[in-house]
Amino acid sequence: MIITIDGPAAAGKGTISAYLAKKYGLAYFDTGMLYRAVGLQMVLEHHDLKDERAASSLAGALSFQKMNELAKHPDFRSDIGGQAASIVSAYPSVRAALLTMQQNFALNPTFPDGKPANGVVYDGRDTGTVVCPHADLKLFITASAEDRAKRRLHDFALKGIDTTYEKVLADLLERDERDSKRASAPLKPAPDALLIDNSGMDAETFISTTIPMLDEKIQMLLNKNH
Ligand code: C5P
Repeated sequence: MIITIDGPAAAGKGTISAYLAKKYGLAYFDTGMLYRAVGLQMVLEHHDLKDERAASSLAGALSFQKMNELAKHPDFRSDIGGQAASIVSAYPSVRAALLTMQQNFALNPTFPDGKPANGVVYDGRDTGTVVCPHADLKLFITASAEDRAKRRLHDFALKGIDTTYEKVLADLLERDERDSKRASAPLKPAPDALLIDNSGMDAETFISTTIPMLDEKIQMLLNKNH
């Protein structure tokens, strides 16, 4: 079974993806990590972020092992990593180089320990529109920019990343704008996606109001796939 969860930054995609993956025995694929890995590698190797050729060559050589190594770097999740990811993700050649890796995962989804999973939950921007247009269930999660900035600021504080609300909000708005306006695979809901706006909700309320809406459909899909 394939579930895709798309939406802007800090909308709660990771929260619901992780919940669904755990509840239904599905692998979780955070596709933003691929773009963050390429963006951070560009920064660490002192490439100009405008250099599409360098970015696409790094994307072509990326492996899950390399991505997981880069994920340990303090800037992988910082606004530096987020901005770099957003810039390189606008290059069509970078997206093309990372597409097969994402699509292949659904052919044989596994947990990090190598054990087989019942399917996969994809979390990203274009997973329901481009990566898996035939997914069984598609969600598009959003929330107001102000709520998302508050959540991101809280996450940063927990990680010890020192920043301000104004900087985080400006960074989110800039990324949203770039992600939605790029020519290649822009951020937008798939026509058959279920739209969920969780503005004003904390994570617990979001999960407790959303899961009952999805439960019956997911159970039905799991029974059908068995
Ligand atoms: O989700 P996350 O914030 O980690 O993603 C980092 C950046 O990677 C996003 O701002 C977006 O530009 C890019 N991205 C993308 N397509 C995806 C996932 C992420 O373009 N499927």
